[in-house]
Amino acid sequence: MPALPPHLLTCPVCTRALQDVGRTLACEHGHRFDAARQGYVNLLTGKGSPFEGDTAEMVEAREAFLGSGHYAPLRESVVAAAVQGAGAPAVALDAGAGTGYYLEGLAAAVPGLFPVALDISKIALRRAARRLPGGVSIVWDVWRPLPLADSSVDVLLNVFAPRNVGEFVRVLAPGGRLVVVTPRPGHLAGLEEVGPLLSVPAQKADDVRAAFHGALVETRREDLDYTMTLPRDLARSALVMGPAAHHPGAAGTTTPDGQRAPVEVAARFTVQVLALAGRAGGVEGCGTLPADGTDG
Ligand SMILES: C[S@@+](CC[C@H](N)C(=O)[O-])C[C@H]1O[C@@H](n2cnc3c(N)ncnc32)[C@H](O)[C@@H]1O
Ligand SMILES: [Zn+2]
Repeated sequence: MPALPPHLLTCPVCTRALQDVGRTLACEHGHRFDAARQGYVNLLTGKGSPFEGDTAEMVEAREAFLGSGHYAPLRESVVAAAVQGAGAPAVALDAGAGTGYYLEGLAAAVPGLFPVALDISKIALRRAARRLPGGVSIVWDVWRPLPLADSSVDVLLNVFAPRNVGEFVRVLAPGGRLVVVTPRPGHLAGLEEVGPLLSVPAQKADDVRAAFHGALVETRREDLDYTMTLPRDLARSALVMGPAAHHPGAAGTTTPDGQRAPVEVAARFTVQVLALAGRAGGVEGCGTLPADGTDG
């Protein structure tokens, strides 16, 4: 099991390196963060974060859905994007990791990888900590400076989650890559049969490229489309696990008689790889880059 790399995590109070001292992360100034019984470490201090993470209901729905294997083709695509044409990464960060499903796939494909799952939702991170016993799962708000050293991350995953442009650029190592998954218009079409759907704006992948312009260059973009045949319970999980679940009226819980047939649902993703622009391309000034929104 790989040990915590010595200069990877930084103390949220004083920015010194955090060391693993046996179920506790500690810096040389004596700031200490104990792992929860469920395995994650909460680095948020003070009042925590105003941002709403996924709720228990959403996390359960996500686990049920991901466990069904319907997003396995996406996970394979993410793993391929993370490793193809590059040396084996040593450190992978998943920002907005949720239950750690994609990072687990990457860790299985890259022996010796040290995975870092970061999310604001403790409930999600309980699952991630179970999935990633050889890594670390950190409660953190992605809109704050990330508790990771400059240039410390070889692969940064961002799957339907918020993107902090300046911070992502700061933590990427030379030669590192960012893998972003966004939904395309028509994603989850078919679920309207089960409950109200939020529409996906067009050109999300172009927005991602534009947001990182000047710091990262897009080196690969792949659209992944397929159809899922979902039993009604999984169709409801697919609805509840997404942003629609934050809205009233999402995913009616009863199924009228006669509407029990499986639902044909579209999966439409874009998987993008962005890499640090050449040395001259400039990570300089990245702190002033705008923060992008979330795909939720
Ligand atoms: C749609 S889910 C995707 C989770 C995971 N990437 C997946 O696809 O299974 C979005 C995730 O972003 C997390 N999140 C939302 N706002 C956040 C923030 N400010 N900081 C960190 N995580 C956040 C949520 O808790 C949730 O786990
Ligand atoms: Zn400290």
